[in-house]
Amino acid sequence: MLKYHLDKMLLEKPLTNIPIQEIVIHKRVRLFMKREDLVHPQISGNKYWKLFYNINDYLESNPKKPYIISFGGAFSNHISAVSAVGRVAGISTLGIIRGEELKNSWRDNPTLLFSRRNGMNLRFVTREEYRYKDKLTEFLQYEFPDALIIPEGGTNKEAVAGVKMMLNHETKDFDYLCTAVGTGGTIAGLSMFCEGNQKVIGFKVVDDASLENKILELTSKRNFNLIDSSFGGYGKIKDDNVAFINDFKEEFKIPLEPIYTGKMMQKIFELIDAKYFPENSKILCFHTGGLQGIEGANLLLEKQNRNLII
Ligand SMILES: Cc1ncc(COP(=O)(O)O)c(C=O)c1O
Repeated sequence: MLKYHLDKMLLEKPLTNIPIQEIVIHKRVRLFMKREDLVHPQISGNKYWKLFYNINDYLESNPKKPYIISFGGAFSNHISAVSAVGRVAGISTLGIIRGEELKNSWRDNPTLLFSRRNGMNLRFVTREEYRYKDKLTEFLQYEFPDALIIPEGGTNKEAVAGVKMMLNHETKDFDYLCTAVGTGGTIAGLSMFCEGNQKVIGFKVVDDASLENKILELTSKRNFNLIDSSFGGYGKIKDDNVAFINDFKEEFKIPLEPIYTGKMMQKIFELIDAKYFPENSKILCFHTGGLQGIEGANLLLEKQNRNLII
């Protein structure tokens, strides 16, 4: 069922139509952004590609009662995307959400409200329980034997295979491929399927010392570098990043969000200034979507009486 929908979406917006936009800042290097955020309004960016084979393979196995379960934090782009897949394809979904305290306040959270409105059931677990996701997965599979349980961030082998579709004949022309890194599935796919002469740079927005090894479990190539871009920690929003995002939107007409793409682009600008990339390099950054997170970020910023993302 979803295969039909996703194929239909692909036909409406074939890969080759996803624009690659030049960001002119410097003559020394050429910087571009591939607007994967435009692939689908609610299943945006890398989420679309990471879910593609997960969902289609599952539906092809003809489950008696299709049910998709996944995990995420309160502002998770992945949870939001899974709920939208559920709505689009008419499949029931369940989100396992980190933070028991959200049980009474989820309606104030735009991501959770959107997901619930898409029909997703929400189950809140303590941070301690969430840490043991493997155990939770076992229990859930027992409770819902027919369900597809997708890991946090959607990262698994099927996701890596889907990321291949972010690459095409146009992306072959670049020296560097850049992506924000959370759980590592996207960079693993880029690493696996890019050209032999291309370098992949991952802008790490989480403090996870084991991330490189996790990525190496998903790609057989060591053609990537990870650069710390957490700017104070995962999910932490810095005022100078908010200013950067607002300036970037005004100048290049591309919206960014403060958890992944905003941090990546600020870091890339810093690296370009520091002459990290050799002269005449062609750099391609992937816009991995996640713009739904801006509303939640702004609520937080407003509470703290700080400047908002425009
Ligand atoms: C907007 C955005 N960019 C980048 C990433 C990082 O992707 P990955 O978890 O595959 O490393 C995510 C998480 O899925 C995301 O939501």
